[in-house]
Formats: sequence, structure tokens, C-alpha cells
Amino acid sequence: MTGFVRLDGVSHRYGGIQAGPEGVLAVEDLSISVGRGELAAVVGPSGCGKSTLMKLATGLQFPFKGSVTVGEQRVSKPVKIAGMAFQAPTLLPWRTTLDNLLLPLEIVEPHRSRIRRSKAEYVERAEKLLASVGLGGFGSKFPWQLSGGMQQRTSLCRALIHEPQLLMLDEPFGALDAFTREELWCVIRDLHAARGITIILVTHDLREAVFLADRVFVMSSRPGRIVEERKIDIPRPRDLEVTFTKEFQDIVH
Ligand SMILES: Nc1ncnc2c1ncn2[C@@H]1O[C@H](COP(=O)(O)OP(=O)(O)O)[C@@H](O)[C@H]1O
Ligand SMILES: [Mg+2]
Repeated sequence: MTGFVRLDGVSHRYGGIQAGPEGVLAVEDLSISVGRGELAAVVGPSGCGKSTLMKLATGLQFPFKGSVTVGEQRVSKPVKIAGMAFQAPTLLPWRTTLDNLLLPLEIVEPHRSRIRRSKAEYVERAEKLLASVGLGGFGSKFPWQLSGGMQQRTSLCRALIHEPQLLMLDEPFGALDAFTREELWCVIRDLHAARGITIILVTHDLREAVFLADRVFVMSSRPGRIVEERKIDIPRPRDLEVTFTKEFQDIVH
């Protein structure tokens, strides 16, 4: 499989001179290749460089060694075809749910020059997206009127509003209770199935990784690199029931 997202022998340091001995060597000789349409999960201990991997793949940081490509293109600036969601939903409290969703479109071309003329079209797109994650009719609510899970759904929609080919999820459900978290697993599963989008999910929850992923990558402690890779052969569509099977639990173990 040729990789849609590829990091080849990538090293990245924060602070000091990149190739020098000072600062924090976050990842070293990190290689990973994720196919188009694949759902890859990355797991590893806290501080091992998972978020760094996400930033390198989307052009928010640049390595001093190795190469990063997305869709055959060498990454040298923020990757436009990517959407991202994080552990904190980071919604603007003074904007309604709908206006939070529209925010990226007000900033990023080509939407930015179109949004005023085609507002109705974009609003319709946003409302459809909200409905697809079970938030139909909530567009006029403010973030503080939503539960944590609803805010996280909104954050997901915001990451998807420009119809990215690549969705990056950095521990998106870490702050939620178990019930809400598992509900959102199903939201991600359905989004992936419906859109054929490539997803990279960082998580420290092994059950989450096994339930959602086609492949799970395990990172070493810092400086992070991929030390293990496991294909998950559980057939799709997967229901939450599958998490109680021996097959599932053996993989998690
Ligand atoms: N902006 C930064 N400046 C300095 N050090 C950083 C920065 N971001 C991350 N680090 C350090 O790099 C290492 C990897 O961080 P990160 O990729 O956020 O890990 P993870 O997401 O796996 O918890 C950590 O030791 C962290 O303290
Ligand atoms: Mg992180």
C-alpha cells in the first residue's frame, strides 16, 4: 500500500537548535505510513510524541530530519486537506454552535471569498453535518448550553466542515465519561464508513484503538518512534457488542 500520509525517518526537537543536543528531542527516526481511507490509531505513553506526530503530519511543525508527505506532496506548510479535533473542544463561547462550525470557512480559501455570497449553502452544509452526529436543531445554542459530549461532537463537525480528506483526532474523547465516549466511537465509525475519509486517531485508550482502527501503531516512550504495528481484522461494521468478545479482549491485551 502506498501511503497517503507518510513520515519517513522523521526527527523533531523543541527548543535549542533542531539538530543540536539542547531542548527536547520529541520524536526520533519516526516512520509511519497510513493508506488512503484507512483508520489508523496511534497509542503510546504520555509525552512520547503523539501530538508531535500529528503536528508534523499536518505541517504545523517541521522536522530537522526525514520527510513528511501527504497525498504525494511534501509537507512544507499547513496541510489544507486536513481537519483536526483535540481533547478540549476549543469552541468560541460567544459564537453559537452553527457559527463555531462556520469559523474555518471564514478563514480558509476558497471558502472565505465565497461564504458571504453562498452563506445559505454553507449553513445548510453545517446543519446537515450537525444532524449527522445527532445535533440536529442545536445550531443556535451556545457552547455553554451543550454537554461535554455535545461540545466534542461540535468540534468534530468543525474539523469536517471544509470536507477534508484527512481527519486528525488527538485524544478527542479523553475528557468524557465512558458512556459518552463509546457513543462517540460509533459517531466516528459511521463518519469513516460513510465518507471513506482517512483518519489518524491518537488515543491512550487501547479499547478505543482496537474498536475503531484498521491498524494500531504503538509508540515508544520519548523520543517517540513506532515500535509495533497491529492489523485489526475484526470485520466491519463493528458494534459495541464486539468489545465483550474474547477476540477483541485478546487484541487489547
Ligand atoms: N511546544 C513545545 N515546546 C517544548 N517542548 C514541547 C512542546 N510540545 C511538546 N513538547 C515536549 O515534547 C515531548 C512530546 O510531546 P507531545 O508530542 O505533546 O507528547 P504526547 O502527545 O504523546 O503526550 C514532551 O516531552 C513535551 O514536553
Ligand atoms: Mg498529546
